[in-house]
Amino acid sequence: MDFNEKVVLITGASSGIGAATAIHLSKQSAKLALVGRKEKNLKRIALYCEKNKGLSPLCIIADVTEDADTERIVKEAVEHYGRIDVLINNAGVIGMGGIKNSSMEIYDKVMTTNMRSVYHLTMLAVPHLIESKGCIVNTSCIAGMKPTVMALAYNLSKAALDHFTKCVALELAPDGVRVNSVNPGFVKTNLLKDTGLTEDQLEMFVKNVVGHTPLKKPVEGDEVAALIAYLASEKAKSTTGCNYVIDGGSLLR
Ligand SMILES: NC(=O)c1ccc[n+]([C@@H]2O[C@H](COP(=O)([O-])OP(=O)(O)OC[C@H]3O[C@@H](n4cnc5c(N)ncnc54)[C@H](OP(=O)(O)O)[C@@H]3O)[C@@H](O)[C@H]2O)c1
Repeated sequence: MDFNEKVVLITGASSGIGAATAIHLSKQSAKLALVGRKEKNLKRIALYCEKNKGLSPLCIIADVTEDADTERIVKEAVEHYGRIDVLINNAGVIGMGGIKNSSMEIYDKVMTTNMRSVYHLTMLAVPHLIESKGCIVNTSCIAGMKPTVMALAYNLSKAALDHFTKCVALELAPDGVRVNSVNPGFVKTNLLKDTGLTEDQLEMFVKNVVGHTPLKKPVEGDEVAALIAYLASEKAKSTTGCNYVIDGGSLLR
């Protein structure tokens, strides 16, 4: 796959799946606009990317839950590169708890980050994607497809994102813009770090999830990155409105 001359905007590129995707695409000569809140982490990933083909990514330090930041993301990417070919809506957070032990703070934080910001950023990027006949890949999760009791707000945000992917794919198909999502199972990243779970609880959680995964292993960030790259590439030119599962067989149970 070749992303030569393609401008790819990735949110949540400072860590985990987004960072793996940035590095993967940098090896294929993509012109990258990387978004994250933690400047040090984002710049570290940008340096990794630059080492591959010598292309220096544009780093945009921004909080996707702030409307002014979201507007600035699109503005800076377009001012710098003159176009956007691929939008990867990847930034996300998780909040733990079911309906008996949740809070409106958790609901608002998770829905605002995982869904509202995607709605807003996509809305602002669409005119540029229509112009470039580009595409969108959203990072969703199998949690939106299968009911579980651990993280209600998170599950809802990803179920909404899956429907968003399909609705927007239908709307933008006449414009030649494709929209898909990847829906990973458990990947070892920093996602669970701010959940308030203790180290022991985290370890138990991971052991439990991996134990219930038919392939008995977590999904790797690189594998998700490769799937995102495929969906963003010309090879997937007939694929739109799909939620692509990559979960070691978890949904089979
Ligand atoms: N890990 C899993 O098991 C798993 C499974 C399925 C789906 N996913 C999805 O994968 C995506 C990436 O998560 P990850 O697992 O790679 O977790 P991660 O390592 O915690 O990375 C999350 C990324 O999102 C960014 N982010 C979060 N809130 C943001 C905000 N308000 N503004 C800007 N950036 C923000 C973070 O940036 P900063 O650190 O710079 O703030 C970071 O780069 C999420 O949408 C998640 O739901 C993860």
